Amino acid sequence: MGKVLVIGCGGVASVAIHKICQNAEAFDALCIASRTKSKCDALAEKLGGGKVKITTAQVDAENVDQLVELINKEKPDVVLNLALPYQDLTIMDACLATKTPYVDTANYEPKDNPHFEYKYQWAYREKFKEAGITALLGSGFDPGVTGVFSAYAMKHHFDEIHEIDILDCNGGDHGYPFATNFNPEINIREVTANGMYWENGHWVVTKPMEIKREYDFKGVGMKDMYLLHHEELESLALNIKGIQRIRFFMTFGQSYLTHLKCLENVGMTSIKPILYNGMEIIPLQFLKAVLPDPASLGPRTVGKTNIGCIFKGVKDGKEKTYYLYNICDHQECYREVGSQAISYTTGVPAMIGAMLVMNGTWSKPGVYNVEEFDPDPFMEALNKWGLPWEEDFNPVLVP
Ligand SMILES: NC(=O)c1ccc[n+]([C@@H]2O[C@H](COP(=O)([O-])OP(=O)(O)OC[C@H]3O[C@@H](n4cnc5c(N)ncnc54)[C@H](OP(=O)(O)O)[C@@H]3O)[C@@H](O)[C@H]2O)c1
Repeated sequence: MGKVLVIGCGGVASVAIHKICQNAEAFDALCIASRTKSKCDALAEKLGGGKVKITTAQVDAENVDQLVELINKEKPDVVLNLALPYQDLTIMDACLATKTPYVDTANYEPKDNPHFEYKYQWAYREKFKEAGITALLGSGFDPGVTGVFSAYAMKHHFDEIHEIDILDCNGGDHGYPFATNFNPEINIREVTANGMYWENGHWVVTKPMEIKREYDFKGVGMKDMYLLHHEELESLALNIKGIQRIRFFMTFGQSYLTHLKCLENVGMTSIKPILYNGMEIIPLQFLKAVLPDPASLGPRTVGKTNIGCIFKGVKDGKEKTYYLYNICDHQECYREVGSQAISYTTGVPAMIGAMLVMNGTWSKPGVYNVEEFDPDPFMEALNKWGLPWEEDFNPVLVP
């Protein structure tokens, strides 16, 4: 039993908090701290009164002193960072200062440079080792479950994995001409960046949306998907020994792509500050303010997600393929926790990562990605906590 401090109170945090409150076997106390305390209080009021004791706090997660003061006051056994990637390093600094284990779902990204990389957080390895505490990076779905799936495939199904294709399909329809399923600023930065994949020991860079494939997803049907760079490619390229190629594909509908192109063409996705009425604004942040809040999509999103990994490799001298995936229904998620499946598929693994680090199952001093731990307890917890996985031993491969 232990206490978790959740930082951030947006779409993903809301799901993780619901799941923490359902999991009184592991958690006996929870502090929700975020920039806007009223959101934390509203959730505490909705979920309070159960076995998990809830407190709330206001915090600026970019201010290390405030974070240290909060951690010293609340004394959590683990900090679960569900704010934005910009705050990863300040929260890691505060965890180091207070010797508190750290878990997140997205790697650090400087505000003025949309190129995310693990190097900023991997630079903390020695410091966490010396402090004797664990930092678990990327415990969402992708990254997160995709890394756990890779470790599981390696442990149980292959002697060598040569190729991984990560396929992220959202077959959900929210009825808006254009909206993003998680934080619009982070989402648009990700999809307007160059594509990248790992092949034979180096990165191959593509133009945004240059590589398109079609795939028939179980539970969803035929979808167009596009090659993107995604952060787990960087850690899996290091941690899956013998890997020759890793690619990441995400599905997008034509309406989303047409709107995005238009917004890009008129400069609305730019992160360079501009002067507006004598005030500096960042166009992408302004765009975020006029787009639907992802948290509001829950009631109106219907359909399913299907996210997983197709592996190709060798077992006992024979070539083998294997597909591990999860199908999640937007409306079922909404009925259970009041959120759509994108927040759900991230919030559930975030809770599981925090639980495993807190109870010592996944504990080793240093900074690690999910695939560096034993996947079995995580896989078991996925089935138990709402993200059951399915296997296909003869999958259709992506050309
Ligand atoms: N691995 C995956 O599969 C995956 C998938 C989706 C998302 N993610 C990651 O999950 C995280 C949360 O995403 P989301 O969609 O839940 O975003 P969101 O709805 O925008 O929530 C972000 C939360 O962080 C709070 N916050 C922002 N800046 C802060 C600061 N300086 N101090 C304190 N709190 C601050 C926000 O406060 P306000 O309420 O005041 O705005 C909000 O509550 C992001 O890092 C995202 O990249 C990971």
